[in-house]
Amino acid sequence: MESLASVVLAAGKGTRMKSGLIKVLHPVAGVPMIAWPVAAARDAGSDPVVLVIGHQANAVQAVFRGAPDIRCAMQEEQLGTGHAVACALEALNGFRGTVLILCGDTPLLRSETLKTMLSFHRDNKAAITVLTALMDDPYGYGRIVRDPSGRVIRIVEQKDADPEEQEIREINSGIYCMDSDFLFANIRGIGNDNAQGEYYLTDLLALAVRKGLPCLALATADADEIMGINDRVQLAEAARILRRRINQGHMLNGVTIIDPDATYIDHGVTIGTDTVIHPGCQIGTGTVIGSGCEIEQGVSISGCRIGDDCHIKAASVLEDSELSEDVAIGPMAHLRPGTLLGSHVKIGNFVETKKIVMGEGSKASHLTYLGDAEIGRNVNIGCGTITCNYDGVKKHRTVIGDDVFIGSDVQLVAPVSVGRNSLVAAGTTVTTDVPPDSLAISRVPQINKEGWRLKKK
Ligand code: UD1
Ligand code: CA
Repeated sequence: MESLASVVLAAGKGTRMKSGLIKVLHPVAGVPMIAWPVAAARDAGSDPVVLVIGHQANAVQAVFRGAPDIRCAMQEEQLGTGHAVACALEALNGFRGTVLILCGDTPLLRSETLKTMLSFHRDNKAAITVLTALMDDPYGYGRIVRDPSGRVIRIVEQKDADPEEQEIREINSGIYCMDSDFLFANIRGIGNDNAQGEYYLTDLLALAVRKGLPCLALATADADEIMGINDRVQLAEAARILRRRINQGHMLNGVTIIDPDATYIDHGVTIGTDTVIHPGCQIGTGTVIGSGCEIEQGVSISGCRIGDDCHIKAASVLEDSELSEDVAIGPMAHLRPGTLLGSHVKIGNFVETKKIVMGEGSKASHLTYLGDAEIGRNVNIGCGTITCNYDGVKKHRTVIGDDVFIGSDVQLVAPVSVGRNSLVAAGTTVTTDVPPDSLAISRVPQINKEGWRLKKK
């Protein structure tokens, strides 16, 4: 296989985003925008991938920290796309083969398209191949100028185009394949005598034509793919298209999505067959959901592993938690980080959990807070139970053995334990450890004053 390197341009600020965050770091379907073109380049077989960075360089580098195939090249001042590519030369030192040039703001680009373009470029032994698209509204893009015989002769930017050139509907995607020898020998030869006073990468094409080298333009079938994000309207549009692709992937894998336009599944989520997802759900990157689950409307899940046949009822929020099989959650439950639930566990409405382990078959059906607790199997936690885990300074643990029955309205003042098979009576405040097989009860004895209401009147 011929070698392939990529250069991804990402030094610009993205002024039109009107943001404190640079454009390429805005998340699209759960991952920073720049991760998308980088993934496409890798999938196409590129190694290394050189990122040209400038604004917020450290934050961009952090996205790919530890990745052996990523190299970064600094562009201190943004003098144009041609200058940006020149900055990448040092990082490509010693490389020979094809160089793919991409922009960091094209999250919709597919690796299949890059592969097609690469074969086309290599089969024709071109010096430069540019990916183009036909646009109904080409405004803002560079236009592909062809001679009467149809050969590409140059690219003219919007701001430099005469009225006739502005009529051209074939636009430059900003994505190119170049022969490394040609690129290295000529990139420093381009000037900046144009409307923006910038070094235009696009001028390389005219330069190759002047030298009589083969230059080609390949039109994409799907103009969406090369959409460059410049503002937040386009950001939302790109996210919508990516979500649709992601949802289609899951549906084709056997997941039922009731309303794909109203289902927000990030990149990097795994879902088993016959799972049903209702509208308004938000599922974050890294989540794994088993098969045969039902996720009701308005559920938010991030960083979770969910086993088979679980039922997550409406409006529940699940964060960094693990559920075994056949677990029922909600409606309106909140699993906070570190919640580990065994099979057949039930967590009902208005229950909040945090850092707990709950054994097989245990239930907390209503209005409860369970934090920093270890709960055994077949435990019943009554309505209104509270683990009092915080004394204002430190967090303390509650341990509840197997087969325990906790009545309603119980407070467990941690650190405290309830031994296996014990019963804690309703209304009890547990402050000392309960031995196994016992009854714990702490209540003020009840007095009935007969006729008291009648005397008051
Ligand atoms: C560029 C092309 C245009 C094409 C369009 C496709 C040029 C001169 N024009 O225009 O023909 O239709 O892309 O979207 O190449 N960047 C740097 N350093 C710089 C300048 C830019 O890293 O000095 C990066 C930006 O961060 C961005 C990318 O290069 O990711 C493209 O730059 P941008 O200013 O958006 O180029 P366009 O004007 O859109
Ligand atoms: Ca752009």
